[in-house]
Amino acid sequence: MQRAPLIEPIAWRGDWRTGVVEMLDQLLLPGEEVLRRYSSAREVAEAIRSMVIRGAPAIGIAAAMGMALAARDSRATDLETLRQELDAAGTLLGATRPTAVNLFWALERMRRRFEELARNGLSGAAEGLHAESLAILAEDIAANRRMGQLGAALIPEGARILTHCNAGALATGGYGTALGVIRACHERALQSGGPAIHVWVDETRPYLQGARLTAWECAKEGIPATLITDNMAGHFMQRGEIDAVLIGADRIAANGDVANKIGSYSVAVLAAYHNIPFYVAAPYSTLDRETASGEQIVIEERSAAEVTDIKGLRIAADIAVRHPAFDVTPAKLIAAIITDRGVVRAPYLESLAGLF
Ligand code: MRU
Repeated sequence: MQRAPLIEPIAWRGDWRTGVVEMLDQLLLPGEEVLRRYSSAREVAEAIRSMVIRGAPAIGIAAAMGMALAARDSRATDLETLRQELDAAGTLLGATRPTAVNLFWALERMRRRFEELARNGLSGAAEGLHAESLAILAEDIAANRRMGQLGAALIPEGARILTHCNAGALATGGYGTALGVIRACHERALQSGGPAIHVWVDETRPYLQGARLTAWECAKEGIPATLITDNMAGHFMQRGEIDAVLIGADRIAANGDVANKIGSYSVAVLAAYHNIPFYVAAPYSTLDRETASGEQIVIEERSAAEVTDIKGLRIAADIAVRHPAFDVTPAKLIAAIITDRGVVRAPYLESLAGLF
């Protein structure tokens, strides 16, 4: 029997006509667990932009629900007007965060579903789009559980795993991608009574998704974990205290290059130097066949304040700042990519294409 999820980052509360989108405010974690409610596409777009919700799959789910709200709130009396309103909502939601491809994948899936529903006229469109957004959420959780099973088979019992950023329940519909695989390893150890796994949690400067979110998830679920700052990873690898690295992804190019949270590339280079396997876990919706290689991936630049300040307190001198929020790990540094459709290895151009 599967346990009820302890962490639910996003849900639709109520029926399709009067419901709202509820999100756990990730800006306030780990200090406070506050649920926020959104009732328009504009509000959802702001929640994504400000990172109340974040993580590639979760952003996609939020955008899909934003589209459902836009359809529900429409007063259009003809299909063409509704189509234009949905296009506008899609543009608004799509302008929030450029790197996570799940956002654009979800918007495109909602657009295609609208065109299918439109064949039967205006009346069922809003209800149908609401159902589609719930399907995207449910499919994401199922994909994560499947990745958990497939990924756990790669990780030995008792392994000490380094993860970067938060690729957990919070970054998805629930359960998580990289942290989902770690969850599955933890569940396996509990069931078998075998040696426990241990997670090294990279703090993940500047936004601290590791220290704030992954650490919170591990504590909440009793997964043994230790927090380190990003610049400590090499030290623990050198001492033989890290057996594997497991991260999520915001976009995987056709050749297997992976865009993920800034700092992932540095960890991959360190792992290669120390002969430690570097794994990426991501659902089908993160695979971007249209982008040939990592060089073409747009890297989001975020505000300088997220680098110079922590919780409103200035920690840096007055100086120029760069803040790329993601970097690209070349495919050649990746031991395997764990997807819900199977585990693939190099050469990725062929193995990823085989998943479609
Ligand atoms: O800027 P964020 O917090 O949205 O970045 C999230 C990440 O980089 C995650 O590692 C990635 O989305 C994978 S999440 C399953």
